[in-house]
Amino acid sequence: MTSSPSSVKIALRRATKNDCDALFVWRNHPSVRQFSSNSQPIQWEAHCEWFEKTLLNKHRIVLIAETGEADAVKPLGVLRYDFAVSVVEAVVSIYLVPESMGKGLGTALLNAGTQWVKEEFPFLQRIRADVLPENQASVKTFERAGFHLIAEPRDAKDFIHYEFDFGT
Ligand SMILES: CC(C)(COP(=O)(O)OP(=O)(O)OC[C@H]1O[C@@H](n2cnc3c(N)ncnc32)[C@H](O)[C@@H]1OP(=O)(O)O)[C@@H](O)C(=O)NCCC(=O)NCCS
Repeated sequence: MTSSPSSVKIALRRATKNDCDALFVWRNHPSVRQFSSNSQPIQWEAHCEWFEKTLLNKHRIVLIAETGEADAVKPLGVLRYDFAVSVVEAVVSIYLVPESMGKGLGTALLNAGTQWVKEEFPFLQRIRADVLPENQASVKTFERAGFHLIAEPRDAKDFIHYEFDFGT
C-alpha cells in the first residue's frame, strides 16, 4: 500500500550538532545545489563553521523533518527559518533529502514547518520565500502550501517573491 504525500506523518525537530555530517551530504547533493543561491559545492570546513554559527544564531532555526516509527525513523527534509529582528517576519528555505524528492512531499513538509513556527512564535505574521522561476517543483510547492505571489521576477535570473500571511 502506498500513502499519499499529505498523509505522511512528519515530525520536526531542531537540528543539533549531530546533524552536521548529514546536512553536509544533503546540501552538497546536485539536486539540492541546483537551485541554491550558492550552487557551488560547499567545502567541509566552511560547512562546519556555518553550521556552528547557525546553531548559535538566535535569529535562525534549522529543522530536521523525519518520518517513520521508533526504530525506522527516516530523514525527510530540512527547513530553515531566518527571522527579522522584529520576529514578525521570517524567510523560509526548504529542501527534501534526495531520496524523498519527486513524490510531492515538499508541500506537506512546508505545511508542517508553517504550523511549527507559528506554534513556537505566535507573534509571527508572515513567512517569505524567494524562488527561482525555473524551479517549477518549488513554485508548485509554495503555491500549494498557501504562499502567494508578492512580486514577479524582474528578469529570468531574478527570484519570484512569495509570502504566507497568517492574517494576524
Ligand atoms: C522543491 C522541492 C522541496 C519540491 O519537492 P517535491 O514535493 O518532491 O516536488 P515534486 O518533484 O513532487 O514536484 C512538485 C510538482 O512540480 C512538478 N514539477 C517538478 N519539476 C517540474 C518541472 N521541471 N517543470 C514543471 N513542473 C515540475 C511536479 O510534476 C509536481 O506537480 P504534480 O504534483 O502536479 O505532478 C524539492 O524538489 C527540493 O527539495 N528541491 C531542491 C531544493 C530546492 O529547490 N528548494 C527550494 C528552493 S526555493
